[in-house]
Amino acid sequence: MLKTRITELLNIQYPIMQGGLQHLGTPELASAVSNAGGLGTINALVYPTIPEFRAAIRQVKAMTNKPFCANVSMLPTLSPGELTPEYFKVIVEEGVPVVETAGRNPKDFIPMLKAAGIKLIHKVPSVKLAKKVENIGVDIVTIVGLECAGHPGMDDVTTIVLGNKTAKELNLPVLIGGGIADGAGLMAALALGGEGVVMGTRFVATEECIIHADFKKWIVGASENDTILIQRSIKNMVRAMKNKAASTCLEMEKNGAGLQELLAIISGKVGKKSMLEGDLDSGIFAAGQAVGLINDIKPAKQVIDDMIMEAELIMKRLNGIYAKQQ
Ligand SMILES: Cc1cc2nc3c(=O)[nH]c(=O)nc-3n(C[C@H](O)[C@H](O)[C@H](O)COP(=O)(O)O)c2cc1C
Repeated sequence: MLKTRITELLNIQYPIMQGGLQHLGTPELASAVSNAGGLGTINALVYPTIPEFRAAIRQVKAMTNKPFCANVSMLPTLSPGELTPEYFKVIVEEGVPVVETAGRNPKDFIPMLKAAGIKLIHKVPSVKLAKKVENIGVDIVTIVGLECAGHPGMDDVTTIVLGNKTAKELNLPVLIGGGIADGAGLMAALALGGEGVVMGTRFVATEECIIHADFKKWIVGASENDTILIQRSIKNMVRAMKNKAASTCLEMEKNGAGLQELLAIISGKVGKKSMLEGDLDSGIFAAGQAVGLINDIKPAKQVIDDMIMEAELIMKRLNGIYAKQQ
């Protein structure tokens, strides 16, 4: 039994969230995580049109009666044609219980979410940004450290320091992510003052994730040294698996390429194609250092059950260590 302010606030059994996964946050995975007692997430951006996004929300609702989340990832500034306002409108209309935002301050959408009773989790990569959003009306702040898949910010600060400091400095409940893949990571996050964890990489290596099987095998065979940081030069750093596309991106950055040139390599379209078709080298595959901790592909429920069992064993060990000191 792990009861925290986050399990209470979100009405979930375990303080374990599957964070948004570009191209991969689908109803199958989200509902499996939610049915297992965690918080599963679908990604709005998986769906290029509003009717498709609405259908995906309805699919999750048909697959679980537990709380679930919709991720809305935003660019730093609103760009022409961006569907963000429309995604939020559908989220409210369909009564999605929880939203995860990232990439841009979500303040413009908070009144409509609050009016609908929807809980908002905002994800940031620094203590400074965490403090900036603390009083704008978000319910939970997620802090992710340097180890994480996707966007770890630009400061190169690890999860252990960011998680600790954010939990100390904020009154809001904090979710900690980046490098967490098992019960030890969960207990570490709770020890740091977090009230739950967010995981991305671990949930990619599950049976329900739609990524090509060769990518899952790649994760299982990978070590903690097999990821790399790219896109530092365009101030939008990403941690991804080392592959041909990532090396090409770094080489182009060294030669002064800007975003427009890099898009040929880093665009989501190329990444999606490679992930679904099993071409390990042609696109950027966001993955965290937690790949070094993942040794199997299993159902999402097994991931969660194993974490809870490991957490209980760790608790016993810690109690034993504490008792010996008395
Ligand atoms: C393949 C992949 C795609 C991701 N896409 C998104 C995304 O679209 N939006 C987002 O907010 N986070 C995204 N993330 C980040 C995760 O939600 C989570 O914050 C991160 O994976 C935590 O670090 P971990 O991978 O060490 O568990 C992605 C992660 C992975 C592995």
